[in-house]
Amino acid sequence: MSKSTIPLHVSTTSNTLMKQRKYLIELNEYEANHSHPLDINFELPSAQSESTKNVKIGIYFATWWSLNVVFNIYNKKVLNAFPYPWLTSTLSLAAGSFIMLVSWAARVADPPKTDFEFWKTLLPVAVAHTIGHVAATVSMSKVAVSFTHIIKSGEPAFSVLVSRVLLGESFPLPVYFSLLPIIGGCALSAVTELHFNMIGFMGAMISNLAFVFRNIFSKKGMTGKSVSGMNYYACLSILSLLLLTPLAIIVEDLKWVAAQSIFYHLYNQVSYMSLDQISPLTFSIGNTMKRISVIVSSIIIFHTPVLPVIKDADSP
Ligand code: 3PG
Repeated sequence: MSKSTIPLHVSTTSNTLMKQRKYLIELNEYEANHSHPLDINFELPSAQSESTKNVKIGIYFATWWSLNVVFNIYNKKVLNAFPYPWLTSTLSLAAGSFIMLVSWAARVADPPKTDFEFWKTLLPVAVAHTIGHVAATVSMSKVAVSFTHIIKSGEPAFSVLVSRVLLGESFPLPVYFSLLPIIGGCALSAVTELHFNMIGFMGAMISNLAFVFRNIFSKKGMTGKSVSGMNYYACLSILSLLLLTPLAIIVEDLKWVAAQSIFYHLYNQVSYMSLDQISPLTFSIGNTMKRISVIVSSIIIFHTPVLPVIKDADSP
């Protein structure tokens, strides 16, 4: 993926043209110095020609888009059947974190060399990523996937706005004009949407804003660092997961799910400490006796109706 962006300022003076030419040469050198081979353990030829690089970027784009289509379809199927967008978002991050931790441990991918400073810089990115991801998922739980993505296609407008207002970047007039059809299209879609939902609309808008901040901070965080894009995103997932898990538990009132998971592990752990000391048969007998306490306590807690086995002779 490109590691730098070409400035949008246009000038016609020869002096500026010379400067731009010098900049492009520097940019090429920069690209050469900062492009990371994929961290998976195979190497591309070191002297990559321009066309090889373009093919590589083309393959990245095609794969990115295909995977995203599949993700969106499954995401919506899950949200239709299981309307817990915060938990669903947490599980997405947990899956990514797990896959990458296993890949690093198995040396399928080289683990990144990070320090405290790296994680500190990553924190605002993770906050933005968490907000953007949850907001998009909440949006998709409320409206059609197509509507979320129409609103999300307004992201370039947010990018220009944030870059202009917060970073003081200036853009040539055509850039502002090119945003008009995007903004107009999003507005038209919002007012004509048959199943409009304000939470769905706002979720997509918040996601746009959050992802613009994420992208700007990510670019700053990745530029000139030894951590590749793939590993940078893996670290981002892990940090976002840590941020999102307690929030999801609170927002969706998942404390019982958390308690169930923790107690499942704890009771099995203690049962194995017992099995370590006794025979499998004694273990099975102990397990059967345990069920008496489960049956009695569950009848009391869930008010399960029970009938006496022997009926009273006088009763009808
Ligand atoms: C998410 O849940 O993170 C978003 O759906 C991703 O949005 P994107 O299409 O901008 O990557």
